[in-house]
Amino acid sequence: MHFSLASTLGLAGLVAQAAGHGLVQKPATRAPGDATAAACGKTMATFYKADNTSYPEALLRANPSGLKDGYDAKKCNLYLCRGYQFADNAANVQKYKPGDVVDLEVWIRIAHEGHANVSIVDTASNAVIGAPLLSWAKGYAASTKPPVDQTKFSVKVPELGGKCTEAGACVVQWYWFGQGQTYESCIDFTVPAPAHAHGRRDNVRGRRVWQ
Ligand SMILES: *[C@@H]1O[C@H](CO)[C@@H](O)[C@H](O)[C@H]1NC(C)=O
Ligand SMILES: *[C@@H]1O[C@H](CO)[C@@H](O)[C@H](O)[C@H]1NC(C)=O
Repeated sequence: MHFSLASTLGLAGLVAQAAGHGLVQKPATRAPGDATAAACGKTMATFYKADNTSYPEALLRANPSGLKDGYDAKKCNLYLCRGYQFADNAANVQKYKPGDVVDLEVWIRIAHEGHANVSIVDTASNAVIGAPLLSWAKGYAASTKPPVDQTKFSVKVPELGGKCTEAGACVVQWYWFGQGQTYESCIDFTVPAPAHAHGRRDNVRGRRVWQ
């Protein structure tokens, strides 16, 4: 048992060195800690602690009989924030307002040409809210030194209409899909509720609607 776990981890290490990789370095993103190990299992947390730029397809390839030791698919979606849990990043919740400009820095450790976007994602439903804040339809990270606007860029926080007021509810997710490999980094943030939540006036076909 112990021996087979050790060899699994050894294989994970080799795969991590051979394949590719990237993450968001700024602002602070979710990282694997105790909450992630509790939801996704120790094998998963150990895998990403060894290489925080790795990706779920490599994790699954390194564990062909499935993730076992504590992995709970209901709590851990390997394709949302790599499965990393909010509680491990609770100390790094960014406070934004609509219109704020957020500077991001991405580290592409190994290139894989693909497409990418930066979006606000509702973590409960894993649905993108609104349009992507930024997207690259193709040609993203085609070389280890990609154009600087692919690794250092800014996004503007949109109006979120009362969503994302609670920490953990939403993330700014950087998503890159290159050559069959999925990379995601998540920034936890909140925005305050709209100022006139009780009596906001909207004109709808000439009528005033109170919300
Ligand atoms: C990723 O891991 C590297 C090497 O261990 C570390 O220096 C870096 O701070 C980590 N970055 C993030 C965003 O977790
Ligand atoms: C944008 O990112 C989301 C994940 O946040 C992903 O589901 C979607 O496929 C991406 N779209 C494009 C066009 O890259």
